[in-house]
Formats: sequence, C-alpha cells, structure tokens
Amino acid sequence: MELPTEKLKKITRTGIRKIFDRANEYEREGRRIIHMEIGRPDFDTPAVVKEEAIRSLRGGNVHYTSNYGLEGLREAIAEKLREDNGLEADPGREILVTAGAVEGLALAMTALLDAGDEVLIPDPAFTSYHNQALHPGGVPVAVPLRFASGFQPLLEDLEERVTPRTRMLVVNTPHNPTGVVYDRGTLKMLAAFARRHDLLVVSDECYEDLIYDRENISMATLPGMKERTITVNSTSKAFSMTGWRVGFVTASAEIIDYILRIHQDLVICACSFAQEGAALAYRRRKELIPPMQASFQLRRDLVVEHLDGMEGLTFVRPQGGFYVFPAIGKFGLGDWEFCDYLLEEAGVAVVPGSAFGPHGRGFIRMAYSCSRRDLEEGLASMNQALLKLT
Ligand SMILES: Cc1ncc(COP(=O)(O)O)c(C=O)c1O
Repeated sequence: MELPTEKLKKITRTGIRKIFDRANEYEREGRRIIHMEIGRPDFDTPAVVKEEAIRSLRGGNVHYTSNYGLEGLREAIAEKLREDNGLEADPGREILVTAGAVEGLALAMTALLDAGDEVLIPDPAFTSYHNQALHPGGVPVAVPLRFASGFQPLLEDLEERVTPRTRMLVVNTPHNPTGVVYDRGTLKMLAAFARRHDLLVVSDECYEDLIYDRENISMATLPGMKERTITVNSTSKAFSMTGWRVGFVTASAEIIDYILRIHQDLVICACSFAQEGAALAYRRRKELIPPMQASFQLRRDLVVEHLDGMEGLTFVRPQGGFYVFPAIGKFGLGDWEFCDYLLEEAGVAVVPGSAFGPHGRGFIRMAYSCSRRDLEEGLASMNQALLKLT
C-alpha cells in the first residue's frame, strides 16, 4: 500500500516546529534559549475566565452543545461584533463557534472551495492557509507582499494573478508574520477587487485586539462586503487562551449553514465548559484586553528601539499582533542559515521568513510575545552576534 495520497504529499509540516524542536534540544543540553519563534502570549488566561470554566465544569456542563455553540457565547460575540467592529450578526444564524480560528479557516476553505478553485493568499502568510486550501483540492496562489510597499498588498499583484478559477481571497490584518496592519486604503482596494471579480473573502482578524496606533477595520463592514466575507476570530490571542480552542466564524446565514455541515462532522461543537469561559471573556473584554494590549505595545516599542540600533537590519515598524519581520539580506546568509547562526551564537530562536511562503525569503520572523526580561536579554545577545557578522 502506498502512503500518503498525492494530495497529502503537498501538505507539509510547519517550519516553525523545526526551529522550536532544535531550540528545545539545546535547552535540554543545558543552554539558555530565548524563545522568539512561537507566537503565543506569555500571559496566563485571566483568572475570572478560568474560574468561570471551572464553575461550569463543576456544574456539570460536560455535554455536547448546539453545533452552533452555546447561545450565551454567540450572544456575547454578537454584542462584541456590534460594539467593537460595527458589524451586525444574528447570533441565531450568522455566528458559529469553532475550535479556534484555525478550525474556522479550514471550514471556510473546505465548505466553499471546489477542487481546482484558486485562493489568493498574500505571501508571506500564516502557514495554515496554504495547506487548508489544499484540503478540498483548492489551489493556493501566492500574492507577494513587498517590503518596499510596507507589506501592504498591491492591486497590480492581485490583478496579475486573478483568473476565472479564482474563488477566494484571504485577508489577515493585523498580519502574521509581518506585524503590519492594512490601512483603510488597502482594505477598500481589496474590497473593490473582491467585488469586481466576485470573490469570497476570508478575513482572519484574530489579532484585531492587539493593534497599536492604528484603526481597526473589519472587512465585512465595507460596502457590499458583508455577504461575501467570512470573518474568523478567536479567543486565543486576545485573552491568552491558545490552549482552550475557542474561536468563531461570522458570515451570512447561508454561508454559516454550509460551514456548519463540515463542522458537525469534524468536531460537533467546541468544548462546552471552555465555551462558558469564553462567553465571560467576551462579556468582560473591555476590562480584560487593555492591560494585555498595553503590555504588548510596550514590548513592540522595546523591540523597535533595539532593532533600530542594529546595523544591517531593516524592518517595517510593526503596528499590530506581536511579530516583526526584518530583512536580513545585508548579512549574506540565507534565512535558514541566519536563524541557525542566531540560535547557535546568541541562543535566540527566530523563524526563517521562507517558512511563511516563497516571498518571505530573506527575512526572519521575531515574535515579541515572550517576557520583557527575555526580550531585553535576547535582543542584546542578538546584537552581539550580528556585530560578529558585519
Ligand atoms: C494569523 C493567524 N490565524 C489563526 C491562528 C490560529 O489561531 P487559533 O489558536 O485561534 O486557532 C494563528 C495562530 O498563530 C494566526 O497567527
């Protein structure tokens, strides 16, 4: 028997893990390693959210919920969408609770793409989009994000790659891995492009609460976009709940109905008591999110200040999320080689840009979601290591 199938041969494991595994190996050997490769907040989940989930579990909330998710959670999400995003969503038919944003993204691709349908993915990109487009036999098409344009997608790059088979455009802002927030002009351009070519838009907004000195705009609020946009979001980054696996999708009732058909066969529902915790998190979001947001903004400022002083690195100032994506071309090393060198010489783990797609080559992704102390130490060692290279 021959394994795997042709389709699965194209689906690869993420390059981030390779660096993470090597960094862990060094740690086991007793070396001090600063982890700037994994994008997850270092905070604990807020205590009130944990207490709510524990209360729920103790109270016997251990059974399946509706496929759509708990009604109370969907109502809290609808309120958040209305107040924070200016988006009206009927909690009864237009919101689906998922096992994190990643399930929502995969559902959207699996439910809405036919084999051969093309998906435009601004590249570099969160690694799952490419693989998720392949699951239903779709064709991921990389659209370059260019350093020279501040990693904002350009209309000419999109127009060059759109074909009669293009069905979907992925939009992710704040953006992983570049840390860039698409400005209003870019979003309007993307919306007009999607309308002109009659495309669905998957809008991954899971970093929307971590945004610095920029406005947050949800794609679905732009004229004519609500019916063609599938908005995906999550508790993972906003409330430091990556392990809880609770996110949501909001779209038209028709699209949600299609997506739900896949969701019911994959997971039935997100974890019941985790959903109760998530409902409280959304209800209390206005007091829970700002301290984390402020802390990430301070770290962003710290990273920018250090990187500014490093000879040979150029970067676009990050505006959201917790990543920065410096260009390393001046050092004359490939991005994998460069990351190996940093790990070896400075004990700093970062990810090669090419792990995020072909247009990430020549860059590295640094996550500033570790503690301030680790950041200070890691950036100082990195500076020393780079001085040896120049
Ligand atoms: C852009 C983007 N989308 C989705 C996810 C997955 O989030 P979740 O934990 O909600 O599945 C991540 C995680 O790093 C991400 O960076």
